[in-house]
Amino acid sequence: MRPSTFLVFGATGGTGRHFVSQALEQGHTVRALVRNPQKLATYTPNPNLQIHTGSITNIPNLDELVHGSDCIVTMLGDASAQTVSKVNTAFIKQLIPSMRRNNVTRLLYQAGGLSKPYNASLPPYLWFLRHTVALTYAGQHADNEAVMEYLGKEAQDIEWIVHRAGIGSDGPSGGVLERSATSSGKYSVATFRDCAEYNLRVVEEREAVHTCCTSFYVGS
Ligand SMILES: NC(=O)c1ccc[n+]([C@@H]2O[C@H](COP(=O)([O-])OP(=O)(O)OC[C@H]3O[C@@H](n4cnc5c(N)ncnc54)[C@H](OP(=O)(O)O)[C@@H]3O)[C@@H](O)[C@H]2O)c1
Repeated sequence: MRPSTFLVFGATGGTGRHFVSQALEQGHTVRALVRNPQKLATYTPNPNLQIHTGSITNIPNLDELVHGSDCIVTMLGDASAQTVSKVNTAFIKQLIPSMRRNNVTRLLYQAGGLSKPYNASLPPYLWFLRHTVALTYAGQHADNEAVMEYLGKEAQDIEWIVHRAGIGSDGPSGGVLERSATSSGKYSVATFRDCAEYNLRVVEEREAVHTCCTSFYVGS
């Protein structure tokens, strides 16, 4: 992959931290909006890491952040905020027009594997998990689903990719994650590290554009 500038939202999170570290290791530039810059202290100083302090709920300089980036990657989550309000959806509805204004076309949005893609249904076993053990995350899934609906209905001019990740631990790599067709329902509970590696790889894939795929370990 040629060196790129990634604008990252959620850079201090479980997946985001690994994404930042892997992107920097591969020679990319990372521009990150974070609420607490201290959380990225282990990566600084690094000339290829630009840290901006702020919240997705109030970004006065969104166009400045978006301008000049090659790809945008969001690995955002705030389960308690998303219980009361669709904060990610509100943010994506600001981000997409900003991308249009700044001629940035590629976006990867990480959702959950149990979030239902727009215009498709969940396989029965994922539907069951979503409505039983994962009920605590209902707000997050509803928000992710509203994002997918908005992207599907109103952002076909943007090269968006949704990764419906399954994540279970922050341990060592469990292997290489592959993209699964939305309808197949193949799904692995992966590590944050592997999901980050997948995001960094798949954001470049032309075939992944306008998909809301889950990911699974090769050979699983
Ligand atoms: N964790 C899982 O088991 C799991 C499984 C499958 C799918 N997913 C999905 O993957 C996505 C990311 O999950 P994750 O577990 O990697 O993330 P995470 O550890 O929950 O971290 C979320 C990230 O979002 C940031 N964030 C939240 N609200 C923000 C705001 N208002 N302004 C700026 N940044 C904000 C957090 O910043 P702070 O550091 O400041 O809090 C953090 O960097 C979510 O959509 C989630 O549904 C997660």
